[in-house]
Amino acid sequence: MNKTTTVSEQLQNNQTASGNVAPTDAVLRAMLLNKYFYEPEDFHVLKDVSFEIKRGEFVSIIGKSGCGKSTLLYLLSTMDTDYTGQIFVNDVLLSGKTQNELARFRNEHIGFVFQFHFLLPEFSALKNVMLPAQKLGIYSKSECEDRAYEKLKWLDMHHFATKLSSKLSGGQQQRVAIARALVNDPTIIMGDEPTGNLDSTNTKIVFDILKDLARTKNQTIIAVTHDNEFAVNTDRIIEMKDGEIIRQ
Ligand SMILES: Nc1ncnc2c1ncn2[C@@H]1O[C@H](COP(=O)(O)OP(=O)(O)O)[C@@H](O)[C@H]1O
Ligand SMILES: [Mg+2]
Repeated sequence: MNKTTTVSEQLQNNQTASGNVAPTDAVLRAMLLNKYFYEPEDFHVLKDVSFEIKRGEFVSIIGKSGCGKSTLLYLLSTMDTDYTGQIFVNDVLLSGKTQNELARFRNEHIGFVFQFHFLLPEFSALKNVMLPAQKLGIYSKSECEDRAYEKLKWLDMHHFATKLSSKLSGGQQQRVAIARALVNDPTIIMGDEPTGNLDSTNTKIVFDILKDLARTKNQTIIAVTHDNEFAVNTDRIIEMKDGEIIRQ
């Protein structure tokens, strides 16, 4: 008789003694993620969230305000470790790693683009993009500069390399923020409403850049959005409702 295996059975079958799993073509795997908030009252914010994302996929996460999208992205990006379940990136189990291990992993493998760019206003565009590369501690200063300049060039922002980030327009700042997210050639780019603060022209520019990165550089991208037009043009939509995935 055929037996349908559950996600947790699949996980057990696949798992090695190190906690890592046998190689798959998934860049990211979330297995049975559950999270609670306890203030102001007990609240089950993520409920058995499981999904996979393949290399080069551009995936959007949608759902009504308050359904848990940002909370999920904080888990996936390893910034929040207070959950149950398992998160694998490149078949490496991240759940249970120390804060130091996660900080290093994040800097190397995850590029984050927020709704607000969080560039350092007193630094040039180039310096802002260089910082995560310098933090990695494996490249010389001139290598960091070269990498940062190359990423600015991808985004057609190299002409603004020496300009103070505070002197750039909102759309230009968001492109610098994407260059910064790309500087260490991350496994995944994660965005929480990356176009949430942009007008429609700049939203299209940023969307087209992300789409092009997925197509031409095989860059994996996960973006939370409430913009339906943005979502329907990505490769796949993951839809959430009240902490659960209802479509993927
Ligand atoms: N730090 C927190 N403490 C308690 N409740 C929170 C906290 N952060 C978010 N929430 C609640 O969890 C739910 C999901 O929030 P969030 O993930 O930000 O939703 P979304 O990004 O989909 O709008 C909301 O009801 C929100 O009020
Ligand atoms: Mg949110």
